[in-house]
Amino acid sequence: MKRRLIAPSILGADFANIGKAVDEIAASGADWIHMDVMDGNFVPPITFGAKMAVDLRGRTALPFDVHLMTRTPENHVPDFAAAGADYITFHLEAAIHAHRVAEGIHALGRKAGVSIVPSTPVSSLTSLLPFVDLVLVMTVNPGYGGQTCIRGCFSKVKELSRLRLAEGLGFLVSVDGGINEETAREAAAGADVLVTGSAFFTAADKAAFVEKLRG
Ligand code: DX5
Ligand code: ZN
Repeated sequence: MKRRLIAPSILGADFANIGKAVDEIAASGADWIHMDVMDGNFVPPITFGAKMAVDLRGRTALPFDVHLMTRTPENHVPDFAAAGADYITFHLEAAIHAHRVAEGIHALGRKAGVSIVPSTPVSSLTSLLPFVDLVLVMTVNPGYGGQTCIRGCFSKVKELSRLRLAEGLGFLVSVDGGINEETAREAAAGADVLVTGSAFFTAADKAAFVEKLRG
């Protein structure tokens, strides 16, 4: 079995100590740094922009997994690509020309991800699957950390794994929202990447937590 990747989200960190949080993620043995970019429009809160990635880039070699919860995601892609983001994921619900957004990310040498909120079915992105490197299945409604996982969304993980095999595609499947030791076990079938915010930052032993999450 492929090793699962663990992507702690800095949204769960103390924003007065983001650098320290990134050091904690690196020390825990986790694989990616997940960055939740919120614009106050696609989702109510505002978090941060590309300057956060620029300033953190020198601090760690871990891949940056940027999750754009913004309208007009194409407007933000160049800055995050220049900031050294490795994966740039946009929301299908926010993109008018999703294929163009994905190809725009690739044109800048970055991996393209697409995300769907709990109310969006997998069938709405099947035509996009050959053009993305990652599908991020939201297991909460985006906008806030610390919410309860909507377990019904895990069937989308299975559906995407089936489609990937059937179509011979190579995208990663990521789950995001309310992921803890318990829900990670349930998401096991097919999830390649687990995003974790509050559960990671409240774990007393972060390295042990990351190992448990890997399953
Ligand atoms: C929610 C974000 C998530 C969030 C996860 O809109 O996309 O990445 O930080 O946090 P938890 O694990 O607390 O649900
Ligand atoms: Zn996220």
